[in-house]
Amino acid sequence: MATILDEEQAQAAPPVRMEISDGLAVIRLNDPARPVNVISEGLLREMGDLLDRLENGEGGVRAAVIISEKKGTWIAGADIEEFKNFQGPADAEAASRAGQELLNRIERLRIPVVAAIDGAALGGGLETALACTYRIATDSPKTKLGLPEVQLGIIPGAGGTARLPRLIGLRGALDLMLTGKQLDARRALKAGIVDEVVPAPILLEVAGRQAMALAARKLQPRAARPSGSPDRVENLLPMKRLIFSKARQGVMSKTHGLYPAPLRLLKVVERGIDKSVDEALDLEAKAFGELAVTPEARSLVHVFFTSTAAKNDPGLETPAKANPIDQVAIVGAGFMGAGIAATSAEAGIRVRLKDVKPEAAAKGLRTARESLAKRAKRKKMKRFQVTALTDRVQPTTEYTGFHASDIVVEAVFEDLDLKHRVIKEIEDAAGEGVVLGSNTSTIPITKLAEASARPDHVIGLHFFSPVEKMPLVEIITHAGTADWVTATAHGYAKKIGKTPIVVHDAPGFYVNRILSPYMAEAALLLQEGVRMEDIDRAMTDWGFPVGPITLYDEVGLDVAQKAGKIMAAAFSDRMGNPPTVVDRMVEDGRLGRKNGKGFYTFDGDGKKGGPDEAVYALIGNPSKKEMPKAEIQERLGLVMVNEAVRTLEEGVLRSARDGDVGAVFGIGFPPFRGGPFWFVDTEGAQSVLERLRALEARYGKRFAPAARLEEMARDKRRFFEDGDA
Ligand code: 3HC
Repeated sequence: MATILDEEQAQAAPPVRMEISDGLAVIRLNDPARPVNVISEGLLREMGDLLDRLENGEGGVRAAVIISEKKGTWIAGADIEEFKNFQGPADAEAASRAGQELLNRIERLRIPVVAAIDGAALGGGLETALACTYRIATDSPKTKLGLPEVQLGIIPGAGGTARLPRLIGLRGALDLMLTGKQLDARRALKAGIVDEVVPAPILLEVAGRQAMALAARKLQPRAARPSGSPDRVENLLPMKRLIFSKARQGVMSKTHGLYPAPLRLLKVVERGIDKSVDEALDLEAKAFGELAVTPEARSLVHVFFTSTAAKNDPGLETPAKANPIDQVAIVGAGFMGAGIAATSAEAGIRVRLKDVKPEAAAKGLRTARESLAKRAKRKKMKRFQVTALTDRVQPTTEYTGFHASDIVVEAVFEDLDLKHRVIKEIEDAAGEGVVLGSNTSTIPITKLAEASARPDHVIGLHFFSPVEKMPLVEIITHAGTADWVTATAHGYAKKIGKTPIVVHDAPGFYVNRILSPYMAEAALLLQEGVRMEDIDRAMTDWGFPVGPITLYDEVGLDVAQKAGKIMAAAFSDRMGNPPTVVDRMVEDGRLGRKNGKGFYTFDGDGKKGGPDEAVYALIGNPSKKEMPKAEIQERLGLVMVNEAVRTLEEGVLRSARDGDVGAVFGIGFPPFRGGPFWFVDTEGAQSVLERLRALEARYGKRFAPAARLEEMARDKRRFFEDGDA
């Protein structure tokens, strides 16, 4: 009963409170109804009321501090949930103007306002800080500042496009806004975004002191620069032109013009930079309004919510307690093992990295430590911090230290017998309560568990290469995996900063299962005489980061051959025999980037060149065929989408949500298309069904639509209900 009352009381508590003492107003943010502070309609209202009081000179207030009581966040930006309510550009523009107006009022207060930032200040959060007179951030690892709006298909809409370039200069501001990158406090200080960095425990004290010093004019805020940037050279017209033209080129080469937000951002800043702040804000609000309701923005918001949900929910029927992970052991110090080691160490986990031979363990250690040192350098860590970090990885050729591990990840060669032996050895060396994770990409987890004395501890932990960069971990359960094991594996993936999806065991799991027919179709197109570069360009123009032929070279032809055969054997009834192209390549000793010989040429430094024309002779010189780009995209795009729907219908996937997250984060399925399931919803199940039927009529069973798709079309259903991202 007490808990219920507490909850009710919590719901009733206001998201903003103001305490006044000795002329200092401390504005505390803590929305009890939300996990993070966001600029919602409610918060705007409450803040508006407080500003009324300050504008009316309440209680002799001479200065104010804005601080958060939420652990880990200051303000996480505008309430993205509310974006779903935008019916058209006018609604979104009005929301932007409401935010701008509130922040203008903060900026125009007669008293100084200090932003006391501990935790994330992102999007509208950073924009709030920019409207303050002075910004102090803590050195806590949770403190990060950035304008990530482009990642949601929009631009900053609460004054960021006007205030940031005026504060820190054009180049720095464009870089932050175009990439959405997030800076820790020290880098934000260096960039000129914050004025001071302090340890968290003294934040309020310092902020209060500085606020009063500003009020007494003993401390000067940064000079206001109504138009232009602090860097005089940047203000020269030719320089400005150059900056914008370079930025535009950069955006085009990165996005192929498929994302409207960064291009619009450049226009807004270019037009607004020499105008008054009010005029710049007007341009910003209009652009925000138009962008927020584009299909691209809707898809990217979907990706945000689905990936956050996947991160926060292991998808268990009955919740289970995860074991904490402080120490991990990795067997197999190859490229993947070293990557897993580095990523774990970076998250504060101690790592034992084992290989059979001392040279192999040493090589893995070197790879992991180099990777850690590189990342530490980027974060500008001190030498002793780098040493402490790299020392977290310890090499071994024995199973020493395994008994203290909370989780063991085997990342040895893809061979069932070898893996069985390793599992037995791990079980002999490790403690009773250890989780046994396998980084296999092709071997069924059910088969691996057969060798185990504790099969309920066995789970798949499929990382993607390069581990440090790829955000996805596919967690694969077999029928006997214990729920606490799944919860622990999920917690581990989250702890090391990955986005996990939990799937059931089946050939190819989820990611490789949907990738496989896509890759096979690309090989078939080659056999039909379509040029490699045409296939690749069609798919990068569709939004993939690289085309499938390039991807063959990157993953390795031998690896692709093995995976292709497993999938063809599992689904031979509809997939038929795998295309022979890959076999011919492997026979010719072409393994892709790793041996500098693939579909494309590679120079001595491993730099990729053009298509290797000799490949066509290898595959029987098919007569060259011009195929419209749209046709290539239709075949490759739909074969993947259809396979994704099949995995849901077969129960490999637990939800369409996981399917979208896995495709976007594991394969690079175009984020602005939201993932295969969001794609079906956007295009309409009926349309996708008809297009697949047309392809089936022309090319055969491999395009036969999934039964679930037929049902969805018949019942006019969507995978995600309206408003459900
Ligand atoms: N709006 C609505 N909900 C949000 C939110 C936001 N801006 N930010 C986070 N949340 C929600 C998440 O969906 C999640 O909800 P759940 O518990 O129901 O799953 C919850 O808050 C906690 O989020 P995380 O699990 O991600 O918590 P972390 O501690 O791992 O990370 C964070 C916190 C760094 C703030 C991360 O949530 C984040 O990056 N949020 C988005 C930041 C962002 O993109 N801001 C820009 C918004 S757009 C904007 O501001 C427009 C403006 O210019 C007008």
